Amino acid sequence: MAKRYDETLVVEYDRNGDVDVLEKRMRPLPSPGPGEVLVEVIASGISHIDGFIRSGREKAWADEAFPRRSGSDFAGIVVSADPTGRFRRGTEVIGHVRAGAHASYLVVPSAALVVKPPHVSWEVAGGLYLAGATALDTLDDLRVADGDTVVVSAAAGGVGSIEAQLAKHRGARVIGTCGDRNFDYLRQLGIKPVRYGDGIEDRIRALAPDGVTCLIDNFGQDGRALAEDLGVSESRYRSSDDRRETELRLLRDDPESVAHGTAQLERLARLADERAFTLLISGFYPLDEIAYAYDDLQNLHSRGKIVLGTHPVTTYRTLKARDVQESRA
Ligand SMILES: NC(=O)c1ccc[n+]([C@@H]2O[C@H](COP(=O)([O-])OP(=O)(O)OC[C@H]3O[C@@H](n4cnc5c(N)ncnc54)[C@H](OP(=O)(O)O)[C@@H]3O)[C@@H](O)[C@H]2O)c1
Repeated sequence: MAKRYDETLVVEYDRNGDVDVLEKRMRPLPSPGPGEVLVEVIASGISHIDGFIRSGREKAWADEAFPRRSGSDFAGIVVSADPTGRFRRGTEVIGHVRAGAHASYLVVPSAALVVKPPHVSWEVAGGLYLAGATALDTLDDLRVADGDTVVVSAAAGGVGSIEAQLAKHRGARVIGTCGDRNFDYLRQLGIKPVRYGDGIEDRIRALAPDGVTCLIDNFGQDGRALAEDLGVSESRYRSSDDRRETELRLLRDDPESVAHGTAQLERLARLADERAFTLLISGFYPLDEIAYAYDDLQNLHSRGKIVLGTHPVTTYRTLKARDVQESRA
């Protein structure tokens, strides 16, 4: 007998607050309408902006009704065929939604999906959308190209690591700010690491004696002053507030914004397939342990992305190599 898909596990919250407001609930699954597809979610990314919206620090969508759902990035398998014929049952897809990707099943417009390249892993595909599209939009906006020398802050993080690698892929020389523990990681990616904090301007000048042409501040600490001191023009500097605007645009669900987000996702999937960048997954948590995943993210030292999985092999938590190494330091 064919399996009935009539309910889904979702992560919801009934008021603004910290991770403790998140609830896991079974909810009825609507039947896909015209232009919609039912997807079984395999992996789904978490992002700071999800947390900012949940806590109320981010005022966009502050008037949305409760309960609200979290998560905008996902990868999964099409369960019901798309009427357009583009996504047959069983197609592996990557997608995006305004909110609600932290779930076991989703009904989404097929306009928000792209085909997952077979060699891109579920974890990477699940965490690709918001960080990757923010990185691409920023590089496009700044017209980063061959000949540029670009400084990317928080270059080991989700957005920063994609931004830095794609800037390099475009032919730019890239300097990435990070803590000591990420020097080797950035070097492996061909990015010149530089320690953030006091004296950063001198350290950047030593690495870029011919000057810096672009500066992208992901972290939001004195980026503007640093850009001015390094002689980067206003038009080639992007602040953490600019990044916020970019992320909010990528989360909108009007047709034009969705089409733009999907076009960027299509490019990202191709670039990931071509290995123009790699996305390290520094934490992979069962959906059930979403609170631990956010705790990890909020430590502000993740490398690449933190992703949730709906089909964990085990729910036992494992000590990560990073934690073992740091507990011995
Ligand atoms: N303005 C906004 O609305 C907005 C929106 C989204 C995100 N953000 C902020 O942007 C930051 C990065 O975002 P993400 O998504 O890439 O986060 P992420 O993946 O959590 O980034 C973590 C990275 O930040 C680095 N980092 C920690 N302290 C730093 C410092 N003082 N200066 C520079 N880098 C530092 C860490 O490097 P080490 O481990 O090497 O120290 C780590 O690799 C977060 O702080 C987030 O809150 C702001």
